[in-house]
Amino acid sequence: MSINEQIHQRFGIPTETGRTVPPNKTLSDILGRRSCRSYRPDPIPEDLLQTLFATAFSAPSKSDLQQACVIRIEDKVKQRRIAALSPHPTWVADAPVFLVWCGDSRRIRRLAEWKEHSFANDHLDAFMNAAVDAGIALQTFIVAAESVGLGCCPVSQIRDHINALSAELELPQWVFPVAGLCVGWPAEQGAISLRLPLEVTVHVDHYDDTELLEQVADYDHRREAIERTPPEKQRMVEQFGTTEEYGWSENRTRQYAIPARADFGHYIINQGFKLR
Ligand SMILES: Cc1cc2nc3c(=O)[nH]c(=O)nc-3n(C[C@H](O)[C@H](O)[C@H](O)COP(=O)(O)O)c2cc1C
Repeated sequence: MSINEQIHQRFGIPTETGRTVPPNKTLSDILGRRSCRSYRPDPIPEDLLQTLFATAFSAPSKSDLQQACVIRIEDKVKQRRIAALSPHPTWVADAPVFLVWCGDSRRIRRLAEWKEHSFANDHLDAFMNAAVDAGIALQTFIVAAESVGLGCCPVSQIRDHINALSAELELPQWVFPVAGLCVGWPAEQGAISLRLPLEVTVHVDHYDDTELLEQVADYDHRREAIERTPPEKQRMVEQFGTTEEYGWSENRTRQYAIPARADFGHYIINQGFKLR
């Protein structure tokens, strides 16, 4: 499939975009990617895994501060306990490799102490920078892993019980989990999920969402035409009932109609961060 055809497939809209771009494996891999939640039990060679870590930590890092770390869960009993913290434990419990990507503001603070410098940036930015570094490292790992045929799925659900997770990982002050990551050889391919059109996500010179509702309504229809959500798959029907016009926006706004992980801010403050 050409790059142009892959962009069409990703957004569900015929387009001219990509027509002049020559074949490129990196672009093609990313355009065709999808999260994978079902894995064959075959092991991932250790040298490959270490290479993926090396690639992930080649990612850019704010001010070269390198404020990400990853905890590789080798203890399968521990992996099962962590999986049990989320409502869909089986694919997390059984993933051949399970990682937890963390923001790490501890390292630079320890180094400041060592070098006898004050740490004058004890505010929200310290949390933000570490969280962003961890997210970029996680995604770089995913791109690398998918390029060799592995399947991945990030798991923020492990943060549903943040204190239990943190205790399981023995996280010290100023280190916090961003997301888990399941990795393995895919047992099934999964489907490409349609993305919002670039008119919604790419702004020129200034922010502009005047056409948002029409654009999202069209997106909902395009997505539902491919992956129609039957009434029995609709979210929280006891509360909201079923609807003919179900779509991405209905699904996601229902999801966010109930609080989730409302304790995360307290946890982050307890980890030592000042969030102002
Ligand atoms: C930070 C982050 C956390 C995620 N957490 C979960 C999760 O807890 N459970 C899950 O099934 N998928 C999780 N995902 C995967 C998303 O659901 C997935 O990326 C999204 O539905 C789009 O599908 P795609 O990756 O196949 O394109 C997460 C993704 C990200 C980036």
